[in-house]
Order: sequence, then C-alpha cells, then structure tokens
Amino acid sequence: MKLTDEELARFDRDGYLFFPSLFSPAEIKRLSDEVPGIYAQRRPENVRERTGDVVRTNFAAHMYNDMFARLARHPRMIEPVEQIFGEKLYMHQFKINGKMAFDGDVWQWHQDYGTWMNDDAMPAARAMNVAIFLDETNAFNGPLMFIPGSHKSGVLAAGHDTSTTSYPLWTINNDTISQLVEKAGGRNGGIVSPQGPPGSMIIFHGCLVHASTSNLSPWNRVNVYLSLCAVSNHIRRFKRPGYIAHRQFDPIACLPDDCLLKDYPVATPWKNGTPPEELTGLLKEAA
Ligand code: SIN
Ligand code: MN
Repeated sequence: MKLTDEELARFDRDGYLFFPSLFSPAEIKRLSDEVPGIYAQRRPENVRERTGDVVRTNFAAHMYNDMFARLARHPRMIEPVEQIFGEKLYMHQFKINGKMAFDGDVWQWHQDYGTWMNDDAMPAARAMNVAIFLDETNAFNGPLMFIPGSHKSGVLAAGHDTSTTSYPLWTINNDTISQLVEKAGGRNGGIVSPQGPPGSMIIFHGCLVHASTSNLSPWNRVNVYLSLCAVSNHIRRFKRPGYIAHRQFDPIACLPDDCLLKDYPVATPWKNGTPPEELTGLLKEAA
C-alpha cells in the first residue's frame, strides 16, 4: 500500500492518517476470534485492569499466535511506515489493547516517543504506531483522541504516572494539553477522534499527543497496535522486559496482501512460553 502525495502532506500537517474499513470483515474475524484465547492465558504479557481480571493490554502476541504473527508482517500496515521513514522497520512493540466494555480504563494524555526515549533510549522519533480496530470505535467506547499537529512540538515534558491506572505511563500535564488544544483550533478541531467500523486503520506520529477515556459502554473497543521503528533507530537501553520493548532488530519482511485469509508459515517462537531473558529488564546497553 503506497501513500499518495496528498496523504503524505496531510500526515506531515496533522500527525495522523485514518483509513476507514481498510481490512475486510472476514480478515478482522480471523483476528478477533483469537483474542479471547490470548486474553485467557496466564502469561506476563497480559496486563490486567485495576478492577480485576479484565485484560487492559496484551503484549507480543505476534511471538506466540499465528494470526497475529501474520498481521505483524502485513503490507497494509508495514509499507506506509516504510515509505514515510524510507527505511526497513523492526517491531519495537506489539499490543492488543482491550478497552473492554464497562472496565476499560483511561489512557492519559501522552506521546509514545516520550516513553520510547525516556525508558528505552530510542535515539529519534523515527518510530510510530499503526493501529487497527477489531471492534467498531464510536463516541461511547473510549475512542482514541488526538491533538492534530501536536507532533510538531517535538518531545514535551512528561511525568511518570505510576498510580492512575494499572500501567505506568509518561504523561503530559493539563496546562500543556490546554495550550496544545487551543493552538490546534480549540473547540473547532483542537481534539479529534477517528471513529469507524472494525477493520479501520490509523497511522500516527510518535510525537502526536493522544489519550482515550474509559469505556462505560456495553461495547468492547479492542485495538491492535504495531509500534514500528526504523532499524537504524533501534533502542539502546534494555531497561524494560523484552516482551514490552523488543531487542531483536531484524527488518520485517512482509507477507502477501492475502496473508490473513490464506495460510503462510510464520515463526511463533514463544508459543510454549516467554524466554526467561525476555521477562526482565537488563542492565546491558546496546552498542
Ligand atoms: C496507547 O496510547 O498506547 C493506547 C491508547 C488506547 O488504546 O486507547
Ligand atoms: Mn500511546
């Protein structure tokens, strides 16, 4: 999938691109059918909500689930980011965020590159997220919210919030958010939230400021995020467990476009458990 000049210009201006219904219902069903089984596993990769047993986020399913291993090599997700960076990519992080009906908790305002820089010593913001919706995203089930153009501010000051939710995050203070929203148009477009059917895809810049509210609706909002990093920009510090911030920097080789519907052999090396060395941070710094 190749981005047009108009899309590239819009990405540069707004910091994100939205592609409604890019994946078909049949493709999304193959992925959605796997999620309950993944969330049911007692693995460290499943981070649960404060309220109990509901999964907030699952890491690294592409290392142990065949369908998600194929998604991690999907040309519709990989090629646009390769085009933007002009370089091969590796998988920095892979997650399936639950935001489940009634229990899905907030994600505070943040930039992903803030975490990648502060925790992982990633040299530059040459990494970004590509997300696909496995459920419909609507106004009620905690849609992602973006401040358009906020990526142009570069890396913003952030504080490490370890208490608001079950997952620690580098978050941005309310004064800064108010200023950014005002600059982006205030009540006229200063916050946007792409909403649409299952199969919709979003690409967003590593410095784009984003958040989502809790999900009080009776509808799940499961999203899959590929955090793709230019190979030359690989992380230098291995403070976080390998299943959260990967330490293998091999370039991703795409499968054919029909890889969710036809079988293609893929490796699932963590199928029988996470390797012990990937469960903890390491003191070692990368060369
Ligand atoms: C994230 O920002 O990493 C997750 C936000 C969400 O899934 O709502
Ligand atoms: Mn984020």
